[in-house]
Amino acid sequence: MKKIHSLSSHLLVLLITLTAIATPTTITTATTIGVTYSTPASISATAQLSPDRIAAKVVSMNIPAVRLLDSNPAMIRAFAYTNVSLFLSVPNPLVPLLASNRSLAMRWVYRHVLPFHPRTKISIISVGNDVISYSPDVSPFLLRAMQNVHQSLVDLRIYKISVSTTFSFFNIVPTAFPPSSAQFQQPNGEVIIRPILQFLERTNSSFLINLYPYNMYRSSFSIPIGFALFEEFPFNFRDDLTTGVRYRNLFDMMVDAVISAMAVMGHENLPVIVAETGWPSSGIDASEVDATLLYSEMFLKALLTHLRSGSGTPLRKEGVSEVYIFELVEKDAKQGIRNWGLLHHNMTSKYSFEFSDGGKARSFIELFIGCFVGVVLLYLLM
Ligand SMILES: *[C@@H]1O[C@H](CO)[C@@H](O)[C@H](O)[C@H]1NC(C)=O
Ligand SMILES: *[C@@H]1O[C@H](CO)[C@@H](O)[C@H](O)[C@H]1NC(C)=O
Ligand SMILES: *[C@@H]1O[C@H](CO)[C@@H](O)[C@H](O)[C@H]1NC(C)=O
Ligand SMILES: *[C@@H]1O[C@H](CO)[C@@H](O)[C@H](O)[C@H]1NC(C)=O
Repeated sequence: MKKIHSLSSHLLVLLITLTAIATPTTITTATTIGVTYSTPASISATAQLSPDRIAAKVVSMNIPAVRLLDSNPAMIRAFAYTNVSLFLSVPNPLVPLLASNRSLAMRWVYRHVLPFHPRTKISIISVGNDVISYSPDVSPFLLRAMQNVHQSLVDLRIYKISVSTTFSFFNIVPTAFPPSSAQFQQPNGEVIIRPILQFLERTNSSFLINLYPYNMYRSSFSIPIGFALFEEFPFNFRDDLTTGVRYRNLFDMMVDAVISAMAVMGHENLPVIVAETGWPSSGIDASEVDATLLYSEMFLKALLTHLRSGSGTPLRKEGVSEVYIFELVEKDAKQGIRNWGLLHHNMTSKYSFEFSDGGKARSFIELFIGCFVGVVLLYLLM
């Protein structure tokens, strides 16, 4: 009897330990990692890359989310009955039109959402992409256009699709270091971004940002390449002396700069979605010595590993909620343009990588621990 008792108390300790180990893994929610896609300009390529072929490729690669830079209805249809969630975009030239005329906003929703929802999983609509640099004249229309698209969805009783707009890091955050002192560039911060943050908060939407460590690395001689490529060298870090936080990669530093800038405006809890990121495998000319296939592969793999680890960023434990890699398919095999594609123009991979992931491994471990705990409990009760 005594022996059994001591055995069960041992098991109890084991049980508590295991529960403690298992608990953190159930709290972390890893970032959803998707890709961007835009229809190639040339007609021969369009025939080759039919929407059905693209959708099938995305499904076969286990990519859970796609951002369509041009929201071609045929492409939206091609993703019906897949589990791939879509991020749609309203093109910049339409923004003033949708802002000034509610019925045009409704018409856009009728054409791009209503025929496909909910068979195609549409998660978010970005009204414009980097409108501030595309045309400063359009910026004042942004919020009104977003409101009109959102209202059209509400009128159709579609509540699950959120509405936002996409900014570009370099056009709204003038200095990223130290991240804790980052602020939005004025006057756009007060005039354009603040009211949009209020809209996002009120409608449960997310802040969308194109964020390229590659560009920041190129624009600053003091950033070592290893810091941009997530390499773990002993001296690969930068300390934010204000917060005492140590940054080990450029991506987290840029994300935290965005979070700090939002915090200045009282919106530090808005979810952040990185609407574009990546590393080119070839540059425009010989001066882009770091635009290589090797670095592109290193960046992608290290980013995927980092995001799956669920470690978040120093200022946001849960990290960014989604990240879209720019881009799925190379635009053109021409010389003299930056190439970002994960796939060549003929849809073959440039290098091998796995999109999905640790999610499965983690749930397997949880299942295993769950079974074990069940057996132990059963034993204790007997
Ligand atoms: C989508 O996910 C659901 C539940 O997670 C699953 O039952 C279904 O088979 C999936 N569909 C596809 C096409 O993968
Ligand atoms: C808004 O757009 C609709 C549909 O194109 C058009 O019939 C209407 O005249 C427009 N309204 C204004 C005020 O421009
Ligand atoms: C926002 O999300 C919260 C929590 O998920 C929910 O309770 C609330 O009703 C949502 N608000 C809107 C406007 O959708
Ligand atoms: C696909 O394109 C790449 C780059 O142009 C080339 O290296 C590769 O051999 C092609 N593969 C096939 C199967 O055509």
